[in-house]
Amino acid sequence: MEHLSRDAALQLLHSYNQSESLVNHALAVEGVMRYFAPMYKGDPDLWGITGLLHDLDYEKFPEQHCIKTAEILKNEGYPDVVIRGTMSHGWGICTDVRPESDMEKVLYAIDELTGLVTASVYVRPNRSILDLSVTSVKKKWKQKGFSAGVNRELIKQGAEALGMELDTLIAHTIDGMKTVARDIGLEGNPAEQGGEE
Ligand SMILES: [Fe+2]
Ligand SMILES: [Fe+2]
Repeated sequence: MEHLSRDAALQLLHSYNQSESLVNHALAVEGVMRYFAPMYKGDPDLWGITGLLHDLDYEKFPEQHCIKTAEILKNEGYPDVVIRGTMSHGWGICTDVRPESDMEKVLYAIDELTGLVTASVYVRPNRSILDLSVTSVKKKWKQKGFSAGVNRELIKQGAEALGMELDTLIAHTIDGMKTVARDIGLEGNPAEQGGEE
């Protein structure tokens, strides 16, 4: 693997993204990808950086989502494995690159899920992910109007492609996001009661 600099990737992310929520999403996905990597004997830097950059173009080029990211990363000299990885998260939506490697399948499965987890944290009185349960996220999952933009079917497909139970996928995603809770503003006030579950 060619050397991948996390600092350079982060700089690149910031140069294309001003939106705090997009940056937090990128950091959340990075955290979850790094968390999953060892389970599949993957390189945490490769997995993490691919996660960090997967939505790189979304703020500036929403109509060319995935395509523009590939172009930028190519110009920046990123290896094909990162470029293909970022493209495959838009499979069936903005690319025809099907997730094939473990890294790609994990990214596909957890991308939208991090959004549902984040939204689930925001409605907690303590606004903390640290004591968020799978049950709590599952409750939100079942409420169709809650974070309606999160495509549950796509997440289910992602879990199936990984051969992983949905509950396990949710548990790992929460745990991965916990590793970056402070960076993504989801630490909240853990001293207060979580509340709703
Ligand atoms: Fe995306
Ligand atoms: Fe995303």
